[in-house]
Amino acid sequence: MTAPLRIGIAGLGVVGASVVKFLQENADAMAARSERRLEIVAVSARKREAERGVDLSAYAWEDNPLALAQRDDCDIVVELIGGEDGVAKDLVEAALQSGKQVVTANKALLARHGGALARLAEQQGVNLFFEAAVGGAMPCVELLRDGMIAGRAHGLRAVLNGTSNHILTSMERGLEYDQALAQARTEGYAEADSALDVGGWDSAHKLALLTTLCFGELPDLSSIHVEGIEELTREDFAVADELGYRIRLLGVATLLQDRRVFRAVYPCLLPRSTGLARIYGARNAVEVLDDWAEKVLIEGTGAGGQATATAVASDLVQIARGGVHAPFGIPSRLLRQASAVAMESRYGAYYLRFRVTDKPGTLAALTGKFAEHGLSVSSVRQRRRERENDEVPLYVTIHDTDEATVRHALSEIQKESFCTAAPMLLRIETD
Ligand SMILES: NC(=O)c1ccc[n+]([C@@H]2O[C@H](COP(=O)([O-])OP(=O)(O)OC[C@H]3O[C@@H](n4cnc5c(N)ncnc54)[C@H](OP(=O)(O)O)[C@@H]3O)[C@@H](O)[C@H]2O)c1
Repeated sequence: MTAPLRIGIAGLGVVGASVVKFLQENADAMAARSERRLEIVAVSARKREAERGVDLSAYAWEDNPLALAQRDDCDIVVELIGGEDGVAKDLVEAALQSGKQVVTANKALLARHGGALARLAEQQGVNLFFEAAVGGAMPCVELLRDGMIAGRAHGLRAVLNGTSNHILTSMERGLEYDQALAQARTEGYAEADSALDVGGWDSAHKLALLTTLCFGELPDLSSIHVEGIEELTREDFAVADELGYRIRLLGVATLLQDRRVFRAVYPCLLPRSTGLARIYGARNAVEVLDDWAEKVLIEGTGAGGQATATAVASDLVQIARGGVHAPFGIPSRLLRQASAVAMESRYGAYYLRFRVTDKPGTLAALTGKFAEHGLSVSSVRQRRRERENDEVPLYVTIHDTDEATVRHALSEIQKESFCTAAPMLLRIETD
């Protein structure tokens, strides 16, 4: 067997401590896969004395994680600190500049700086692997970078945030948003600050990376339209269910005829029969639509120390097997600038929620407005009166149209006296 590959691990939190444990318990099996041993030589975190549930006594300790990048006895730096800038970015840059291989789970960092870091890795002739950054244990990075590298993908849809999916699954069972969020926190599926998760930004970070792997456009958050799940009510789920749909927060990327890529994260209605509609709780899934391969769907545990550690360990075995690959599958000099595609250009069906005055003639006035704007209504549902002030919620679905028309109609309808609150729009996806 060749000499062992020596690893420095920065960050010993939820993921880092699990990675140490995984490597301690699976060293032989990993060596058998790559014919090379992987050995931890040094670790770094903020609090040296913290109890982390793993024995660190055999490893050198660095107070400053950047020291790992300078250690001669370290071939691979594993960055598990997190954050789009600061020490995580400094460490990854320093490690690549020192000619070390890098493994990271940091989607925020790569979504912001992935293009530049990939370029640096390629210049240095080393790997920058990030399987753990998207979908936890689900090997979607490898699927797109290696498995489907010769593919002709034209679309990608994905459930990318376990916290949000857990909340949506609870709302499906009758909880209101606040109750579902509180439950997710109690059960350990949501952080105290879950704004990035429920606001759609964690999904956007991951979608940025998947889009680069799939369509060869540089990671770029600014070109992604992002909506979160905070405005949903349990009534939306009840109405969706009556209509044969489930609600999921999806990352969507579509290759358009002119080769630009439409990208968005939004909650949407999905037919119950769709694979993605059957992803429950904290699970994640990625669906790739390919001209030749048709539909490929993978599902897995999207987060958590153990699941994520397996993805980090897989990257380490890949490095031990040898070879250097462009981090995004395509050499970074060939990655295109991300295209800007307006959300208004989306073409599809829509679900609309209104609050209107509970008076005779309101429904006729509303449908009249749709007709005025050339929108074709496919269903209308009125639920029980919610308050004592003569307001009722109305739920309308409309047939395929472009989003610009829907938005224009909604802005006009909102001005009508029968409309008592801003309407809400959800997209309806097809199977
Ligand atoms: N948690 C998940 O399920 C999951 C899933 C996929 C990807 N990820 C990604 O994995 C990465 C780590 O996440 P995590 O959940 O493990 O985070 P975490 O539990 O907060 O752990 C972060 C670790 O980084 C250390 N750290 C923070 N600032 C530091 C600094 N300035 N110098 C040295 N060490 C520092 C912390 O040290 P102390 O322990 O001493 O405070 C801690 O050990 C992030 O990029 C995250 O997005 C996480």
